[in-house]
Amino acid sequence: MKKRILVLCGGISKERLISLDTGKQVANELKKNRYTVMTCEPDHDLLKNIKRFRPNVIFNALHGQFGEDGYIQTILEIQKIPYTHSGVIPSSIAMDKEISKKIFIKNKILTPKYIKFDYKKNKKNIIKIIEKKLKFPVVIKPINEGSSVHVYICNKKNIVKNLKTLSIYNQILIEEFIGGREIQVAIMGTKTLGTIELKPKRKFYDYEAKYNLNAKTKHIIPVNLSKKDLQKITNITQMAHKLIGCRGVTRSDFKFYKGKFYLLEINTQPGMTKLSLVPEIANYIGISFTQLIEWILKDASLDR
Ligand SMILES: Nc1ncnc2c1ncn2[C@@H]1O[C@H](COP(=O)(O)OP(=O)(O)O)[C@@H](O)[C@H]1O
Ligand SMILES: [Mg+2]
Repeated sequence: MKKRILVLCGGISKERLISLDTGKQVANELKKNRYTVMTCEPDHDLLKNIKRFRPNVIFNALHGQFGEDGYIQTILEIQKIPYTHSGVIPSSIAMDKEISKKIFIKNKILTPKYIKFDYKKNKKNIIKIIEKKLKFPVVIKPINEGSSVHVYICNKKNIVKNLKTLSIYNQILIEEFIGGREIQVAIMGTKTLGTIELKPKRKFYDYEAKYNLNAKTKHIIPVNLSKKDLQKITNITQMAHKLIGCRGVTRSDFKFYKGKFYLLEINTQPGMTKLSLVPEIANYIGISFTQLIEWILKDASLDR
C-alpha cells in the first residue's frame, strides 16, 4: 500500500506565498515517488482532513507564525502523527529571535548586540534609547517573522519612519548593524550539509533579494573561507542546532565581519522553493531534491 503524506502549507503568516511554493515543490516531488499526497491548509478543516486522509507522515511546509513556531506542532503532537522538522519547544524558541539570542549569548555564541523596544511605550525617546546601548546604523526587525519581512537598516534620519511600519508588533528588536559577508549553514540531522554565501545587489538580503530572480543575488558555493573559519562557523551552527534541540534540517544565518561570525538566527523550517538555499546546498554535495525530501520524511517517522 502506498504511504499517505499530508503536505501542510499556506497558512496565515506573512510567508504564506513562500510556504505555498515550498508545499507545491514538495508535493510534486512526493507524487513522483510512489506516495499518495494531499496538500492541506492549517485551517479549521485540518483535523477533519487528518481524520479522513489518515496520513502516515505530515510534511510541514509552513513558514513563519503559526507554522514554524510550535503552535501547529502542538496540534500534530496531540494527533500523534509523525511530522517533519523540529518539535514544539525548539520551534517556538528558534522562532523567537530574542529568546534565541539569549541562549546564544549565554553559550558564548556571538550575535549582534540588541535592545528590545516597545513601540507604544517608547516612541517619543527612540533615538536616546537606542544611543544608550547601540550606535547607528541599526537594524530593526520583528521578533518572530521570517523572509526579511519588516527588517530595515536604519540611520538616525529614517528610524522614526521605519519603526512606525513595525508598530503593528508589540515588541521589536533593534540590533547593531553588522557589515561584511552574508553566510548561511545548513544542517541535516547530525551532519553539516554545507555552507552558502549570498551577495545581494540590493542594500541587504531582503525579501526581493531572497525571492525575486530579477534582484540577481549571487549564490556562492563553495564559500571562500579558510579551513579554520569553515570549522568555526560549522561548530557554531552545530552547537546552536543542538542547544535549541532542533530536529532534521535547519539553516543558520550569519554575518561574517572582521574575522568574526555573528549568528542572526536559526531557521527550523527552511524553504524548499526553486530558489531556496538548503536544496541548493544539498545539490552541491550530490544530494538531489528527491533524496533530501525522502530523508526529511524518514527522519520524521524514525523519531516517533
Ligand atoms: N544585525 C544585522 N546586521 C546586518 N544585517 C542584518 C542584521 N540583522 C539582519 N540583517 C539582514 O537582514 C536579513 C534578515 O534578517 P534575519 O535576522 O535573518 O531575519 P529573517 O528571519 O527575516 O530572515 C539578514 O539575512 C541580513 O541580510
Ligand atoms: Mg534569516
